[in-house]
Amino acid sequence: MSRDEVVGVVPNIVIPTYYQACWEKAFRYLDIKPKFLHPEFKKFRINTEELNDLVDEKTIMVVGILGNHYNGTYDPIWEMDKHLTTINAKKGFQVGLHVDAASGGFVAPFQDDVPAWDFRLKNVLSISASGHKFGESSCGTGWIVFRHRHDLSEHIEVEVTYLGGVSYSMTLNFSRPATGVYVQAYKFLRLGMVGYRQKVRNQLDTTKAFRDRIRSLKWNHGAPLFEICDPGDDPGLPVFAARVNPKLGLKFDNFALQRAMVQFHWYVSAYHLSFEDFGKDGANASTALCKDEEKSASMFRVVFKSNLTQVMAEDLFHRLAEIMQHVKEVEQAEAKKELGRLNDLKDLTTFVSSGEILRIRKCRVKLFANPHSAC
Ligand SMILES: Cc1ncc(COP(=O)(O)O)c(C=O)c1O
Repeated sequence: MSRDEVVGVVPNIVIPTYYQACWEKAFRYLDIKPKFLHPEFKKFRINTEELNDLVDEKTIMVVGILGNHYNGTYDPIWEMDKHLTTINAKKGFQVGLHVDAASGGFVAPFQDDVPAWDFRLKNVLSISASGHKFGESSCGTGWIVFRHRHDLSEHIEVEVTYLGGVSYSMTLNFSRPATGVYVQAYKFLRLGMVGYRQKVRNQLDTTKAFRDRIRSLKWNHGAPLFEICDPGDDPGLPVFAARVNPKLGLKFDNFALQRAMVQFHWYVSAYHLSFEDFGKDGANASTALCKDEEKSASMFRVVFKSNLTQVMAEDLFHRLAEIMQHVKEVEQAEAKKELGRLNDLKDLTTFVSSGEILRIRKCRVKLFANPHSAC
């Protein structure tokens, strides 16, 4: 029998290319074919009109991501909903929207300028949110809410009575730790609506202040040192994302920056703009994430948790600025063929990035004795 005969009908999910790894598990384990919405690189914007061609009779859901893990952009769930209403009416489908609010589920409800993205929209049938994102609960605290009770399939739910009364279990293994639920419940009681709003406001303000300062960093001839790649002032996660301005043609790339920042005890993750394309009949292939950017392109991000205060963000900024200042000096010395003199410079530390040996100044400024004291 052919593979298609064995699996019968292969359902599909329409999802942006910047899906998180949990979706890869669904595709692999549950024999689901993904169909992709490719964003433009700028602000990771998807064209929701493409849903018209992608949604078909085998589509079991469309996924909108409320805060992707590359740059923090919110998908326009409100636009996706409109298109789905038209598609469903025209083609007689009942395709619903799942909102993957893993990262934004405890952020967006406390932001003022986000259009309706939840059950206020007709086609949103389920929403998932991670309680532990931004360090707000213990790891593994995940939530899913369904619009209708009947959408929680009876094939998943198991009822037991031996604990007294009726208990429902919808997990893969029966018993699970409840720690995360307690931590999250504590946060609800401790912060309340007002506290969550203030917390989110702080995170977004700190992100914005940091982003604005980064904009002030320039190369020798006045070109920006970094290209900002996050949604900026549009609603999004408290995440700063950027890349070393590719127009400068520097050897020092985003991965080198990540390595250099580590010596200051800051973790600034760099990654390529590529993803595993499971859409190609199971043949995995690393493909460009965006319509208009090479798969070899890269960027980095900083996640602003609520304990990353303005003072700590200042420290982060100065480390970054210091590294880039040193990169300038190295480039200038190289241009003037004064590398010998450069090697004489004291306090250089050597590290390898993308196969190249790079040098950077050792940390000169004293780190916070206790970073948590700045909280
Ligand atoms: C958009 C998105 N979906 C899903 C997940 C997975 O969530 P969890 O960490 O709760 O498994 C993440 C985690 O980074 C995410 O960013």
